[in-house]
Amino acid sequence: STVFLNNEYIPANEAKISPMDRGFLFGEGIYEVIPCYQGQFVGLQPHLKRLFDGLKALEISSPLTTEEWGDLCKKLVSLNEGDNQGIYIQVTRGSAPNRHHAFPKDTVPTIFAFTFEIPAVPMPDKQSVTAYKVSSEQDLRWKRCQIKSTALLGNVLHFQHGVREGNKETILFNQHNELTEASSSNVFIVKDKVIVTPPLDNQILPGVTRHILLNVLREHSDFIIEERVITHQEVLDADEVWLTSSTKEVAPVIKIGEHWVASGQVGDIWLKAQTLFSQYKY
Ligand code: PDD
Repeated sequence: STVFLNNEYIPANEAKISPMDRGFLFGEGIYEVIPCYQGQFVGLQPHLKRLFDGLKALEISSPLTTEEWGDLCKKLVSLNEGDNQGIYIQVTRGSAPNRHHAFPKDTVPTIFAFTFEIPAVPMPDKQSVTAYKVSSEQDLRWKRCQIKSTALLGNVLHFQHGVREGNKETILFNQHNELTEASSSNVFIVKDKVIVTPPLDNQILPGVTRHILLNVLREHSDFIIEERVITHQEVLDADEVWLTSSTKEVAPVIKIGEHWVASGQVGDIWLKAQTLFSQYKY
């Protein structure tokens, strides 16, 4: 496959990065994952906006303009196989001769991007959809979760906790037993037809799928939608629980630990939400 590394499109096996890169030494970088179906990107602009927000938080000036980032994504997709591809982009501060915590002067940011094949999104269907069984755990990550940092150790350890229990995701609660998000997804609940998701703050990633879904539901449905604090008990009492991410879109959760969500059935409102999302996501 062809990857992009520091202004060059090269074969993946020729891509080389210095071990002194601060992405490698400190996890000092940010990333995005952007889906592209048949040449159409989902949320390209909000993904690039979040990339710029992350660079600003790290005090790295963007090596490319929004237009150039967009062109890079398009070109990389065209150079690789697959009708449907996810684009991974990462930017780190770059490398310096010495390992020193302070930002070094005059570093050149490292840009690395590659694509990977993703499955086509199936027609939303309650019977055939992959319903998630998830673990749950206290959120032990840091207090800047709004930054899409490449330093994902906290997320990886939470995800692996789920894997150890035979699950594919772990939902997280803060020290006050309030829902934050999952290790690689945002979380929504539904109770009495009201759709609720935690508010944007430093405890969660401002997910692009979350953002698009909220817009689509507000514009194309009559559901009441709330962005507010959700307690652990409310999650257990919910009629439906969903995960959202660029690669999952809207995914139903049927079991949390030993607890079945609404006796293990995929919900009707999930079906409406994913149907509307598929229809209006571009
Ligand atoms: N994960 N929360 C976390 C912690 C995430 O890592 C992600 C995305 C999301 C959902 O964000 P979005 O809707 O913008 O994809 C929420 C990506 C896909 C990943 O790490 O592979």
